[in-house]
Amino acid sequence: MIGPQDAAADRIAPPDPHVVVLFGASGDLARRKLLPGLFHLDRAGHLSDCRVVGTSLEAMSDAEFRILAREACEQFGRGRFDEEEWDRFERRLSWVDGSLGPMALADAVSEAEAEIGERSRRLHYLSVPPAAAAQVIRTLADAGLTERSRVVMEKPFGTDLASARELNAMVHEVFEEDQVFRIDHFLGKEAALNILALRFANGLFEPIWSRNFIDHVQIDVPETLTVEGRGSFYDATGAFRDMVVTHLFQVLAFVAMEPPVELAPKAITVEKEKVFRSMKGIRPRDVVRGQYEGYHDEPGVEPGSGTETFIALECRIDNWRWSGVPFYLRTGKGLAEGARIISIAFREPPKSMFPEGSGVGLKGPDHLTFDLDESSRISLSYYGKRPGPGMLVDKLSMQFSLNEIETQGDTLEAYERLIRDAMGGDHTLFNTAEGIEELWNTAAPMLEDPPEAIVYPRGSWGPVEMHDLIAPHRWRLPFQRRWRG
Ligand code: BG6
Repeated sequence: MIGPQDAAADRIAPPDPHVVVLFGASGDLARRKLLPGLFHLDRAGHLSDCRVVGTSLEAMSDAEFRILAREACEQFGRGRFDEEEWDRFERRLSWVDGSLGPMALADAVSEAEAEIGERSRRLHYLSVPPAAAAQVIRTLADAGLTERSRVVMEKPFGTDLASARELNAMVHEVFEEDQVFRIDHFLGKEAALNILALRFANGLFEPIWSRNFIDHVQIDVPETLTVEGRGSFYDATGAFRDMVVTHLFQVLAFVAMEPPVELAPKAITVEKEKVFRSMKGIRPRDVVRGQYEGYHDEPGVEPGSGTETFIALECRIDNWRWSGVPFYLRTGKGLAEGARIISIAFREPPKSMFPEGSGVGLKGPDHLTFDLDESSRISLSYYGKRPGPGMLVDKLSMQFSLNEIETQGDTLEAYERLIRDAMGGDHTLFNTAEGIEELWNTAAPMLEDPPEAIVYPRGSWGPVEMHDLIAPHRWRLPFQRRWRG
């Protein structure tokens, strides 16, 4: 029997040898995140022996795939690119043309397995759009590649409740639920996990974490990026499915959930799913949709498309802890700044004792702010006395950044962490079939009757109507003050 310390150590020991079958291996996500992530895991000693079989409908030789992977790792990888480390990693890569069918795939996998031992495990990573996921699952079944296997499925999982149910049923014909890892990379971010640490490893915050003390919450993820090369995926998906029903709702669950009985997959899943069940359906009148000017000129976008590239909405969680506390969510492409913040606004105190003009309350309520960026910054803002005579107050803040601590070099990028967790069979940060279906259920009223998308200029903050949505509150971004150094 292993004790808690051993169990924790067990989770961070390198996983068994693996063949990773990467579907969509020449796509945008594979190039930006998955290939550089696997390279980093390998060189940082987080993988034991490993082979990567890349596949997509493109025809490519092993050598061409290695060049594509090298360029991706040079362009998007972290840290210095080391030739020796690369030489070792590139020998692990091979390619199989997806159009050659299941048997060619099975052969490529057994060749890779022959190199690392037949007892190795398989990780099938489906970096493909929702419409292609079912076909890949069928291919895996036909190729006889379900044993010793785990399958990682990218979001969005389905496009609505009916399609998610259908996909879940189909996946369950081929894989057991414990073989399935529905990924949402926001949950692998250090900063997202820090929400759990901050809430549950301290005595300070949890007692004030409720409607008694919190006025409202904002989860705000504007992006400067446009749809850049992902036009056809994006046009069929839109900001609501791409970001809200996935990442933003997952982060919301970390903020809103009750303390789980342990930091283990089942316990966390139970609490997250209770949040999802308590969420009221998203009402179209609580939503502002937008589309950036010039979106129709993007390659892959349908002429006259009404897909939203911006969305702001109000969510309500109808439970004892959160009743009456609005959660405002916002995200979009082609906006003025890129940021990923969660902002908890505390209720304001009575200000009657402060003299007129003292400045109390002038800069909004006190906030606890999480920055989901790699630096995992946290800020607690409050009113403090301005030095000098009288009683004038200013908004001050206490700030923390991951860059300040010695262990920051150990940080894993979100995909790296999640790939590693999936290889180790750890479901803690992945989504279940029921959880996903619950979210599509919450999304249904908005999907059935979406308000018109309002055109906004690129480089702006989105349609001005978003201010009415949040009134009398205000969006925190753009910040009045910058983060410190
Ligand atoms: C992806 C979305 O899942 O998340 C993208 O498909 C988005 O549209 C991206 O840009 C944002 O992730 P991150 O980690 O860069 O904030």
